[in-house]
Amino acid sequence: MFKVPINTPIMDKEEEEIVQKVISERYFTDQSYEGGKYVREFETALESYLNVKHVIAVSSGTAALIASLYAAKIEPGDEVIIPSLTFVATANAVKAVGARPVFVDIDNYYTIDAKEIRKKINKRVKAIIPVHLYGHVANMDEILEIAEEFGITVIEDAAQSLGSSYKGKMSGTLSKMGCFSFYPGKVMTTGEGGAIATNDDELADSLRKIRNHGFDKTGSITTFGLNFRMPQINAAIGSVQLKRLPQFLVAREKNAFIYLKYLMELSDKITLPPIRDGAKYNWYLFTILHPKRQKALENLKREGIDARVYYDPPVHKTPSYSYGGPLPKTEMVSKTTLSLPVNPIVNEDIIKKVTAILKESLN
Ligand SMILES: Cc1ncc(COP(=O)(O)O)c(C=O)c1O
Repeated sequence: MFKVPINTPIMDKEEEEIVQKVISERYFTDQSYEGGKYVREFETALESYLNVKHVIAVSSGTAALIASLYAAKIEPGDEVIIPSLTFVATANAVKAVGARPVFVDIDNYYTIDAKEIRKKINKRVKAIIPVHLYGHVANMDEILEIAEEFGITVIEDAAQSLGSSYKGKMSGTLSKMGCFSFYPGKVMTTGEGGAIATNDDELADSLRKIRNHGFDKTGSITTFGLNFRMPQINAAIGSVQLKRLPQFLVAREKNAFIYLKYLMELSDKITLPPIRDGAKYNWYLFTILHPKRQKALENLKREGIDARVYYDPPVHKTPSYSYGGPLPKTEMVSKTTLSLPVNPIVNEDIIKKVTAILKESLN
């Protein structure tokens, strides 16, 4: 166990009490089209937080991606453009529906490079999944413009970016569908869990059916579906966590700005997180590029500070894929990237210590 985890669920009595309540009701799941009481409560609260028409809660972020790809009618033989610098689930979801991930390099913000997307467009490309990696929002204006030009669906992988925004709109609501994860390491959690946000009534209807074996409102099976339902206990935890989220994000932002202040003196040797114009980050992670990453990592771990490498190797170099390179920026970043804890339990003293270790590791 680390003294300072990279991320950790922050909960108190309210989460414990709601779980007890749901257990006492013996109300674990609900096969209705709407999803049941606690799921609907959580979805409604998220709709209002995100300012979006529909939220469909599901069992994980991976399930959210797979359900969205089915809803977008992605089929075997289709291609889906994704970044390679992402968690492998983005690619695996594409593979799960029988389509082929096409890997694209990143821009200077660690998110998919819109210019590189253009080079990969062909008739088989049916979707683009930008990933708002580390909470950094992708270049959505240009991505949406390309998608519009070629009639391609955009599905945001917002698993890491709940609470980030771009030009005043929440990440995950900038395209047709946005997929969230509530895994315990995220900015808020439901245990395991995920959700899809959409403003499109038809897609919302498809997603509700896909979540529950294809059953429609009347109980008839009208389409393909699987069991992607979010359990009621998880949804009940989610509603409590969502109330706390704004306060979690304030603490993260405060920590990020303290990091920026202290690390400025090293800015000629390490790369600080670039902030895109118009974007506000949720500071899921505070990610730097450090030329002596391994040494920094070991020194931080020795002091009980859980820094992490996200991601090395990048997905196009993992065994299930091993194609699609070279992606020079992705490969360069993957060798030097280092994510530091910026979660609400971090404080100024910890940040001072991290700064000192990062500095000493440069020698
Ligand atoms: C970028 C990204 N996509 C997808 C996922 C998958 O989410 P989950 O673990 O909830 O299935 C995750 C997180 O774990 C992620 O970080």
